[in-house]
Amino acid sequence: MDKFLITGGQPLSGRVVVSGAKNSALPCMAAAVLTPETVTLHNVPYVRDCLTQRRLLEDLGATVLVPDLRTHKITASNIELFEAPYELVKTMRASVLALGPLLARFGKAKVSLPGGCAIGTRPIDMHLEALQMLGAEVRLESGDVVARAPKGGRLAGGDVHFPKVTVTGTENLLMAATLARGTTHLHNAACEPEIVDLADLLNRMGARVRGAGTETITVEGVEALGGAEHTIIPDRIETGTFLVAAAITNGELEIKDCRPEHLGSVIAKLRDAGVEIEEVNPTTLVARRSASGLKASDVTTEPYPNFPTDMQAQYMALMTQAEGRTRVTETIFENRFMHASEMQRMGARVRVESHNTATVEGPSELMGARVQASDLRASASLVLAGLAARGETWIERVYHIDRGYEKIEGKLRAVGAEIERVRESVTAQLPPVETVGT
Ligand code: EPZ
Repeated sequence: MDKFLITGGQPLSGRVVVSGAKNSALPCMAAAVLTPETVTLHNVPYVRDCLTQRRLLEDLGATVLVPDLRTHKITASNIELFEAPYELVKTMRASVLALGPLLARFGKAKVSLPGGCAIGTRPIDMHLEALQMLGAEVRLESGDVVARAPKGGRLAGGDVHFPKVTVTGTENLLMAATLARGTTHLHNAACEPEIVDLADLLNRMGARVRGAGTETITVEGVEALGGAEHTIIPDRIETGTFLVAAAITNGELEIKDCRPEHLGSVIAKLRDAGVEIEEVNPTTLVARRSASGLKASDVTTEPYPNFPTDMQAQYMALMTQAEGRTRVTETIFENRFMHASEMQRMGARVRVESHNTATVEGPSELMGARVQASDLRASASLVLAGLAARGETWIERVYHIDRGYEKIEGKLRAVGAEIERVRESVTAQLPPVETVGT
């Protein structure tokens, strides 16, 4: 398995370009199953999870052409399989996004129940209960969810109330409702920018979605959807990660091709913690540590538009360098502090007080160490800590970071980081993407 070797202490300086948002590309790729016509997606990030989603689509029978690394032309004209198998779902929970589209277009779907993962049990009970509100028959069969549309093969529009905000649950229901008979209202829907991006794509395909980005989304079902072309929004979490990288190394980064309006709560919190952030233009940010230095500022993760759980680990790394005590409260996942114990090995003074609260005393001098990544965002936080630490940090299991960050070591090296990927074996490399002629 690949490792990163980081020699910390270099202030980063220069320009980084943000890639497309993994958490938008994944549902948008699944949305292509809703039509036999071609859906062309631009700005798809070259990350492992998108390769996995591509493999799932091809296993279902869709054709995925990749004329260049970040453009996917998906044609689901001859779907022969209507299931997302365990071996794919267990590696990537977002495979459950096949459920809504398969059920909507073909009236049937079989999806392996995703097991838990490092950050929590992550059930899909709300997805299933909501699909039942649209008339789906759902039953469990030896670890798989088997769903069927009611007789006649089409879901029926209806009122869906999510008891908790669920991002992929909202996405699954949004896609399912586009082909349902009648109108669907999704209440307590997720408001993330990725939901809005998916709705934009669906409307280009001929769907009738209104209210995406608010807590109530209305979908008027249509008979069929067509092909479309769409550019995936920039990754707001990658953007936030680079904002932290500039501040934690006491450098200055210009961050291009981002969407500052998707990071309102992150920018506000970082500014409160002593990070200077300039919005140079609608797609460019410049970040540096303020002259007065970093200072502790408590944070609580909540659904969008509040501070995102996917930035919690990165923010914790930054607070190890801030003056004072920071209280971190994680309200989304029940086990998302694994990075804390790894940071402690580097000298960080972090105490996990309960399953959802931790405190960070700073500033503490971080020393390089051997650490282990446990999940995507935890691995990003360990890279950030390694960049700030004195000496060498080895990060093991970097396949986690490859899931959601495109070529992060290349981007960081280009702005002065001393980071290299040490390949343990050739099998660990990302498979080459065979680019096919248009
Ligand atoms: C999405 O996961 C993101 N993944 C996650 O990003 C992100 O952390 C999360 O939303 C929260 O913002 C993708 O978009 C592919 P949820 P999702 O359903 O949809 C519980 C990353 O790092 N829940 O909003 O799976 C659940 O256990 C990843 O890119 C149920 O109980 O998250 C969690 O505690 C990590 N039953 C909470 O709700 C359900 O049916 C929020 O989960 C669904 C969810």
